[in-house]
Amino acid sequence: MLLKVFNCQLPETFELFTDKVIDRGWVGEIDKNRRCIQGGISRMEARTLAAIILKYNCKNSFETGVAHGISTLAITQAIVHNNGSHYGIDPYQFLEHEGVALSLLREYNLLSNFTLCEGPAHLEAPKLFSLPEKFDFIFIDGMHTFDYKFVDFFYADHLLKIGGFLVFHDLLLPSVKKIFRLIKKSYNYNFFTTSYLQPSIASKVKYTAVAFIKGKSYWYDWPNHFCNLLILQKIANTERSWNYFYNF
Ligand SMILES: C[S@@+](CC[C@H](N)C(=O)[O-])C[C@H]1O[C@@H](n2cnc3c(N)ncnc32)[C@H](O)[C@@H]1O
Repeated sequence: MLLKVFNCQLPETFELFTDKVIDRGWVGEIDKNRRCIQGGISRMEARTLAAIILKYNCKNSFETGVAHGISTLAITQAIVHNNGSHYGIDPYQFLEHEGVALSLLREYNLLSNFTLCEGPAHLEAPKLFSLPEKFDFIFIDGMHTFDYKFVDFFYADHLLKIGGFLVFHDLLLPSVKKIFRLIKKSYNYNFFTTSYLQPSIASKVKYTAVAFIKGKSYWYDWPNHFCNLLILQKIANTERSWNYFYNF
């Protein structure tokens, strides 16, 4: 899968809070909900999300999959820099994660520019159509099975402005690759990935062997070791005849 490389760096003077949080390795408040970070995006991925938002002056955004709030912190900080606001959709922020993402935003004084939509994306994303404006930036990192990813994409495509950015985490998961094949053939987007941490054949073989020893799927260790972002920029709305079908 060949993708154009997206070159977008944070300004040197911009201090991204996620760098510090990832270095210290924990989120939450002492004696309340403190825990080690698990399953969040990497430092470079967080820097890339923030860099896109700053470079393209994105003012309104939403994401699916808040969890420990690493992506949420990076996106909200950059959006606030542009005087905008961010929405995060997650059914488990309190059921499973004890509100740690909200603690993190409170710690950095960003809570007032963030709205938590507590519920699964297929129920919460449709509510965002009632807002006066469409979105400049959307990040998809919720439930990782194909059906949920596709539903996230369906709503994101309708909610995104032309020229806006839609970023998927987990490009190395088969479910996201499948969605990518569909989008490439049937929707109007430019596609990019980042220049850093791209998997070489040798490193893919290495992590495939490790997965084999663990008795897991061949791709099991890939998402944790490579940059995993698929960056899409919407060129136009997609309009088709009533019986259009593409077998992907
Ligand atoms: C990989 S984590 C997200 C990590 C987060 N983006 C970060 O960087 O810290 C995925 C999270 O999606 C949430 N999730 C699960 N099902 C969901 C759904 N149907 N809609 C939205 N979020 C969901 C869960 O809380 C789960 O922990």
